[in-house]
Amino acid sequence: MACQSSDELKELVREARICTKEGKVADYIPELGKANPNDLSIAINYPDGNCYSAGDIEKKISLQSISKVISLALVLIDRGYNYVFERVGMEPTGDPFNSIAKLESTAPTKPLNPMINAGALVVTHMIKGNSVEDRFQRLLQFVKDLANDQSVTYSKSVASSEFETAHLNRALSYFLKQHSIINEDVEQLLDLYTKQCAIEMNCLDLSRIGLIFAMDGVDPQTKKQLIPNDVARICKTFMVTCGMYNASGEFAIKIGIPAKSGVSGGIMGAVPGKFGIGIFGPALDERGNSIAGIRLLELLSKNYQLSMF
Ligand code: DON
Repeated sequence: MACQSSDELKELVREARICTKEGKVADYIPELGKANPNDLSIAINYPDGNCYSAGDIEKKISLQSISKVISLALVLIDRGYNYVFERVGMEPTGDPFNSIAKLESTAPTKPLNPMINAGALVVTHMIKGNSVEDRFQRLLQFVKDLANDQSVTYSKSVASSEFETAHLNRALSYFLKQHSIINEDVEQLLDLYTKQCAIEMNCLDLSRIGLIFAMDGVDPQTKKQLIPNDVARICKTFMVTCGMYNASGEFAIKIGIPAKSGVSGGIMGAVPGKFGIGIFGPALDERGNSIAGIRLLELLSKNYQLSMF
């Protein structure tokens, strides 16, 4: 779908870009360290098919933690509410996304929510299929359908860069295995999880997935229910309560849009009933969220009164 360049959005991007100077690209996944910290782009996708953008919207980004909302939707479809929430909780942590601290202090032991790494690893573990390849292809096909882009794939270099350095995620996984929350080979789980995080797309595709969530799981063009209404509702609720990690409370107050960030600098937003947003700005704040992306959403929310609260 063609996306029109918008002067209003360009002006907001110009203003938000100023704060990229205060951010830093993620480099704990070495491949992500190659991103240009000054980049900032946005696409907004409306139910009637209109799309507006600013910045280089062709540039591809890996989903990283944004993929956690999509894998959650898939396992809720695969396994149902009870099975999933017996293994992962529903509460925000107030801790960084990769923290191991609450795993030990929560009884019974289960990750507090599916958006932190520990919870996302359990979710990825629950994706159905006969092999890692089969499970990954099912997830990838789901992503392609949501983005309405059958060309979506994953970055092998980002996946292997994370696989080789994901020592903390391995530690979380071994802890979960010790407590019988997962029961598969940890290297196999890490293979699947790092491929999931390395699925890449441009912010146009990202805004389109945001739109599906905004429209309660329905593709507004074809009227097809791609995600059951209830599953889309649960995912959006997690985006509000945990989508920006330990910045979720402040984000809800200042911006008030269900959103999910990733350390690649992506943010997917879903303005309920209105439109989907895809943002790419790789300079991050200290909590791992796109610094200019948040600023841009703040400007958008204020200018167009987008807060849902
Ligand atoms: O597991 C990780 O650390 C990354 N693949 C994803 C983390 C992430 O995107 C956190 N987001 N802000």
